[in-house]
Amino acid sequence: MTNDPYALATDAAVALKGATGIDSFDVALVMGSGWVPAADALGETVAEIPVTDLPGFTPAAVAGHAGRIRAVRTGSGKNALIFLGRTHLYEGRGVEPVVHGVRTAIKAGVGTVVLTNAAGGLRPETQKVGEAILISDHINLTGANPLTGATFIDLTEVYSRRLRALVREVEPAMAEGVYIAFRGPTYETPAEIQMCRTIGGDMVGMSTVLEAVAAREGGAEVLGISLVTNPGAGLVGEPLNHQEVLEVGRATATRMGALLAQVVNKL
Ligand code: HPA
Repeated sequence: MTNDPYALATDAAVALKGATGIDSFDVALVMGSGWVPAADALGETVAEIPVTDLPGFTPAAVAGHAGRIRAVRTGSGKNALIFLGRTHLYEGRGVEPVVHGVRTAIKAGVGTVVLTNAAGGLRPETQKVGEAILISDHINLTGANPLTGATFIDLTEVYSRRLRALVREVEPAMAEGVYIAFRGPTYETPAEIQMCRTIGGDMVGMSTVLEAVAAREGGAEVLGISLVTNPGAGLVGEPLNHQEVLEVGRATATRMGALLAQVVNKL
């Protein structure tokens, strides 16, 4: 093992192949807060391991983020790698653990990365709690970037148009929007939420953007989907809490699972 993040991801991919008995994966899905129960719809579980069995992964820090990796054979015969939970920047471990899963998946052969999250809705005029929204683009306000040095990679189309169109074949009415990421762990202030609306955001959260950048750097196509679990702070006057976020996930798991299963089968 070395300190080089790509070497660490290569090591983790080798260990992953050994632990699951699968030599190459086609697609990786990262299940965000509230999305974990939806994973059960994706296909037949071939193996499931704690992330900590692989080099470079740290234990789950957040309730609802299970910290396990599941290898699944989908209905269409694809090998899917499902991360039941993710590492967040707010855990204070730096940026590399946040993107290690995506890098490991890419080293394990994955060409498509599906990033899901729970998000606050910035447009309660048109958005409903429990609605899934395609991420069309992002604004990274985390102050972090997984890349260092002269890696001036193009981010014109972080979230693949092709994959968004494919989702729309399943759910023609699905809205799309711009996801804004903060570092967290606090939820935003009402003033920050107003700023997010002004600068063109539609959803707000604490994940996804760094993984999306790492996936693009690794050459994978990215699909991002937010589950709106609450209106952003101050938009309706209710305080926010993590239990509510998980609750919406549980209530929508069957619907989100069916959606992801259909999308993965079309890949
Ligand atoms: N803000 C940030 N992250 C979130 C929110 C929110 O309102 N809801 C779920 N995750």
